[in-house]
Amino acid sequence: MHLQNIGVIGAGTMGNGIAQVCALAGLDVTLLDIADSALQKALATVAKNLDRQVTKGSLSEAQKLAALGKIRTSTDYASLKDVQLVIEAATENLDLKLKVLQQIAAQVSPACVIASNTSSLSITQLAASVSQPERFIGLHFFNPVPVMKLIEVIRGLQTSDATHALALDMAQRLGKTAITAGNRPGFVVNRILVPMINEAIQVLDEGLASAEDIDAGMLLGCNQPIGPLALADLIGLDTLLAIMQAFYDGFNDSKYRPAPLLKEMVAAGYLGRKSGRGFHAYE
Ligand SMILES: NC(=O)c1ccc[n+]([C@@H]2O[C@H](COP(=O)([O-])OP(=O)(O)OC[C@H]3O[C@@H](n4cnc5c(N)ncnc54)[C@H](O)[C@@H]3O)[C@@H](O)[C@H]2O)c1
Repeated sequence: MHLQNIGVIGAGTMGNGIAQVCALAGLDVTLLDIADSALQKALATVAKNLDRQVTKGSLSEAQKLAALGKIRTSTDYASLKDVQLVIEAATENLDLKLKVLQQIAAQVSPACVIASNTSSLSITQLAASVSQPERFIGLHFFNPVPVMKLIEVIRGLQTSDATHALALDMAQRLGKTAITAGNRPGFVVNRILVPMINEAIQVLDEGLASAEDIDAGMLLGCNQPIGPLALADLIGLDTLLAIMQAFYDGFNDSKYRPAPLLKEMVAAGYLGRKSGRGFHAYE
């Protein structure tokens, strides 16, 4: 199938980035949200991002206008009638996503591939909620989408080889590198990253080193671009706790026990950058 028409559901942080990279790759994008304000904000964000690229000289004014012209917005699921691929990037909530998937499946053709950008929900479970579940797949973009080179492609138990091949083609067309993962909590990247951060919090709690020294250790000793505690503050400690808890529950394995200090910090409202205080202090 030659992909030309795609739908992106949810115009938030991830949805607007996905719409931007797809439009730049020449795809016709229908960006859908329940909130008109989210759509307006998304278009303004994309326009600002493209303007920045024009200023830097990596994009011409004509390319910018062509990309913007590829994105049409809608609040009506009926506008998805002719799309060949839908990427669902709505709010991370199982009940909400199941409802969204029903609305998508009711409009698109049976051949339309349906993908979810979920970070933590089961692709197999989401696939089971649509007809022809073999056309369902996880396409996990990273934030910020226009900058990050990776897409994790997650196969549910039902995903067909043809759907997988289309997802890999799509990633290539967007200029991204794809890795394929099986359907387990956290897939690959978060499965490795989040327990590492949790361990850094445990090391801090045991008094082995200060937060500054733990971050300096991983920065200078492992060439990480940012220390694990500074990264925790950036992601948000409530988000991290939710992910660790999902691993703990999903695997039924004590090795994923959230660090007690992480729970304490969240209970205190010290959530990292967004609250002004986490493992480090912010203005
Ligand atoms: N933020 C990240 O760093 C990140 C990274 C990778 C994956 N994800 C995943 O991407 C998805 C979206 O996350 P986000 O950070 O962009 O969230 P967000 O809160 O920024 O945006 C979600 C959007 O979904 C819209 N929405 C809610 N209900 C809807 C409905 N019924 N129909 C259509 N739109 C609806 C909201 O209005 C909102 O604009 C989630 O599944 C999340 O797990 C997020």
